[in-house]
Amino acid sequence: MITAVSRTYLRASTQAVCNSLKPAVIATTQATQQVRCLHSDLQVPDFSPYRRDSVNNAKRKNDSEESRKAFSYMMVGGAAVGTAYAAKGLVNAFVGSMSASADVLAMAKIEIKLSDIPEGKSVTFKWRGKPLFIRHRSEGEISTERNVPVSSLRDPESDDQRVKKPEWLVVIGVCTHLGCVPIANAGDFGGYYCPCHGSHYDASGRIRKGPAPLNLEVPAYEFPDEGTLVVG
Ligand code: FES
Repeated sequence: MITAVSRTYLRASTQAVCNSLKPAVIATTQATQQVRCLHSDLQVPDFSPYRRDSVNNAKRKNDSEESRKAFSYMMVGGAAVGTAYAAKGLVNAFVGSMSASADVLAMAKIEIKLSDIPEGKSVTFKWRGKPLFIRHRSEGEISTERNVPVSSLRDPESDDQRVKKPEWLVVIGVCTHLGCVPIANAGDFGGYYCPCHGSHYDASGRIRKGPAPLNLEVPAYEFPDEGTLVVG
């Protein structure tokens, strides 16, 4: 049986022991912290030989996955650059093949010296594979065409809508019925006559009689100076 006196004695003894140990514990903790501080500047040694195989294998697996990823990224990047370069070459070649060749470009425009065409005559040129009629109209032809009532025409166009200068008519010589080439200075209206099915055009190239539905086509043209006509 432990008496009250004995309990008091034991508690006092324990307290005394704890008090005597406290400085030693504090000193030990401080010494440990100092050692840690000293070691923080040192290189950590390689403990791999002392690690378990499973730990080393996991590290090796991670390293090999990283290197595999880097290789994949390099291969994908290289393939993308190669594909882009090949696509660029392909597009260049395709666009280049679509552009007109030198001889086609040379035919794109035609320059005509107007002094070579006497008044009252229609001259045929070849332009972009089609016949091109240039007609030097007389005063009589101009006034006749200007006086035609537009409302009486199948394809209503006034004469001044079809010419830039009254004395020059510029039209493509392809019949608007089925594509024959009309004859100049022929037909009932003194302009052009298509013998294939009998279409009559006047001196403004407008359809006046026969099966053709439309007037002869007027191409883009300009007069860069008084004596020159450029078509195209
Ligand atoms: Fe000219 Fe038919 S093709 S009238």
